[in-house]
Amino acid sequence: MRVYDIIKKKRDGNTLSKEEIDFFINGYVKGDIPDYQASALCMAIYFKGMTLEETTDLTLAIRNSGEVLDFSAVNGIRADKHSTGGVGDKTSLVVAPTVASLGVKVAKMSGRGLGHTGGTVDKLEAIPNFNVQLPKDEFIGIVNEVGVCIVGQSADLAPADKKLYALRDVTATVDSMPLIASSIMGKKLAADDDVIVLDVKTGSGSFMKSVQDSKTLAEIMVGIGKRAGKKTVALITDMDIPLGRAIGNALEVKEAIDTLKGKGEKDFLEVCIALATEMLYLSGKDDKNRCEMLVKDALISGKALKTFKAMISAQGGNAEVIEDFSLLPTAKYTHSVKATASGYIDKVNTEGYGLSALSLGAGRNRVGDNIDYSAGIILNKKTGDWVNKGDVIAVLHANNSSLFKNAEEIFLSATQISEQKPMLRPLILDRVE
Ligand code: URA
Repeated sequence: MRVYDIIKKKRDGNTLSKEEIDFFINGYVKGDIPDYQASALCMAIYFKGMTLEETTDLTLAIRNSGEVLDFSAVNGIRADKHSTGGVGDKTSLVVAPTVASLGVKVAKMSGRGLGHTGGTVDKLEAIPNFNVQLPKDEFIGIVNEVGVCIVGQSADLAPADKKLYALRDVTATVDSMPLIASSIMGKKLAADDDVIVLDVKTGSGSFMKSVQDSKTLAEIMVGIGKRAGKKTVALITDMDIPLGRAIGNALEVKEAIDTLKGKGEKDFLEVCIALATEMLYLSGKDDKNRCEMLVKDALISGKALKTFKAMISAQGGNAEVIEDFSLLPTAKYTHSVKATASGYIDKVNTEGYGLSALSLGAGRNRVGDNIDYSAGIILNKKTGDWVNKGDVIAVLHANNSSLFKNAEEIFLSATQISEQKPMLRPLILDRVE
């Protein structure tokens, strides 16, 4: 078999066999296939697409390139959720302990933020001493004892994805449906879960800008999950507006804790409740309505907060942050961004908000860049809110005040103010099963 023939076959719009896909992934991981041939194949896939069968074969080849975990030592049903990436998306911090507090186990491996999107592992690391790298038996032990444990993906998890993603990032081939679907599901399927709930974001802050594209991506990922024998459902959720008010790691941890204390922002709470309900329902806990009631009760009663606290302690973190936010990293400087006109905050460019937070130090441009956990943005006003000229619409947080000018410019150019009150679309736009 020659990789040249595989590239040509895909370039001409033909379907690759499982053997050809395995040959490519194995050869690329071993270093036998150079980056220039791998990028040519990614570009051919970008233009010609893949069938569901090809995408499933690619997903399984990516999964099988590294360690495939065995969670059979976990007592009970194991459920996971995964977001395709957004701005201010701290749902895992709320959803995972909520579901665990209701008896479904969450053994979660999460990623780090990249570009305008954040990552759960970075958010958790904002909690002093929180350890996201645990040996497997300790990880399983915490899942059994507390109900939930969230760690980073080990170096040995789907190494083909790490190599391919870095290549796609510099060859303009990230936003390809089969490549995104196989990248996400290749990692998800390397973990040993019974239930997978996908939060496919749609809109200006996500990879998929249109609902139709998000739905297609969701259908591909749900199809892969089912072919791999997992109960899989996807919700298509809005990312035209950042979720909640906080963007940036420690700021988002505070917002997640407030939500677990029953003081959550309406939009953020709605998405958390929907995802947690799906996880419980697919795990066979009860009917849909009852699952939703259980979730709401766990959030109001403090049951979910108690589980979050136990998880922080079990993972070495300082759980006192729950009562005392001053124990979380706090930026030295803040800067108020003021409305440049009177009117309604119109649709915002959510990716721009993510990039503004990144420029303050909250995110990373390249894998491995350092981040500032305290940096970020608090949104005082969001789409649909009325503002008078000069009102504070957001507060920027940074440890270097010279970063504010650029961040403010990015923020304001992503914000439109108009006379017409904008129509808000539902937060949960569709469900794919
Ligand atoms: N997240 C991933 O893990 N992979 C992609 O390709 C896009 C988003």
